[in-house]
Amino acid sequence: MMIGPHVLPNRLFVAPMAGVTDRPFRQLCRQLGAGYAVSEMVTSRKDLWQSLKTSRRADHTGEPGPIAVQIAGTDAQMMAEAAAYNIDRGAQIIDINMGCPAKKVCNKWAGSALMRDEALALQIVAAVVAVAAPRSVPVTLKMRTGWCHTERNAVAIARAAEAAGVAMLTVHGRTREQGYTGQAEYDTIAAVKAAVRVPVVANGDIDSPEKAVAVLQATGADALMIGRAAMGRPWIFREIAHYLATGSHLAPPATADVGRWLVEHLHQHYALYGDFTGVRSARKHIGWAVRALPGGEAFRSVMNTLDTVDAQVAAVRHYFDQLAQAHATLPAAADAPAANDDQAILQA
Ligand SMILES: Cc1cc2nc3c(=O)[nH]c(=O)nc-3n(C[C@H](O)[C@H](O)[C@H](O)COP(=O)(O)O)c2cc1C
Repeated sequence: MMIGPHVLPNRLFVAPMAGVTDRPFRQLCRQLGAGYAVSEMVTSRKDLWQSLKTSRRADHTGEPGPIAVQIAGTDAQMMAEAAAYNIDRGAQIIDINMGCPAKKVCNKWAGSALMRDEALALQIVAAVVAVAAPRSVPVTLKMRTGWCHTERNAVAIARAAEAAGVAMLTVHGRTREQGYTGQAEYDTIAAVKAAVRVPVVANGDIDSPEKAVAVLQATGADALMIGRAAMGRPWIFREIAHYLATGSHLAPPATADVGRWLVEHLHQHYALYGDFTGVRSARKHIGWAVRALPGGEAFRSVMNTLDTVDAQVAAVRHYFDQLAQAHATLPAAADAPAANDDQAILQA
């Protein structure tokens, strides 16, 4: 699997998720089998580039390459400037966001709303490619199947984007109107794959090795992108990689390893956000990690009241030590919410 000149170790990608796939989480997913990770989106608004949020998102210290930065906006010139700014800060691949359902930039809908204005979408692609290509930086595009059920124009946009120089296309199998409801459909992704020569990445509702195989078969896609199912379960990448390679399931991870990965992740998280913010923003990651586990909900309630690094880490260690005594390997989720339970995840 290649994106422009970049050779990837496999074809399992972490989806960009604002507020989730920060550098520590991306690194954790890569460590546990993901071959590629795209940053959370960075706005094309210059006035926000110096903000703490955007500068944290543009910090790629220690991140394994290729470093891919997603940009979002509605103005071709501003998007080109955002691409140049991020390339100057280490981006090796620029991804254009036409997939996000609800992001306003400059009081205009960006993300998947651009799919409704094909001319503007193409202007943006052309302007970003014009800046990136001379610097040998491939440009990729992430989109949905279309605006709504009756306006599914992913194939038309894919063809035009390819002609404009895009090096890879990712398609989330939902329309913009669907948000995260309903189920992803894969026929439109298959149609995109059949219509272009650049690599196509299938995305939407992939939450198990079996589903990964089914989506690859249904779409013929070159790669898979996984978002929500990786929250709290970043080892899903190595599970899918193993299944694709062997046809058999990898054993569940050792409970002690899961606890150790989480504590390591927490320390990386505090290092990026600082202790005060880090303790608070780490709660969602801990919540996702334990929600499917015995006693997870009760632990989460207590953990949410702790507000120091030491107390949070000690509580997580204690929870996983106790769990490991009863279960050497991570117990399967019995009554836990499904990994793709939209409400649980989006409200978290
Ligand atoms: C919390 C959250 C934040 C997201 N942020 C972005 C984003 O910044 N850029 C983007 O292109 N898609 C974003 N998405 C969409 C995901 O990349 C992905 O397309 C979607 O979740 C479907 O994949 P999944 O079913 O594997 O989760 C976000 C999704 C979630 C749940």
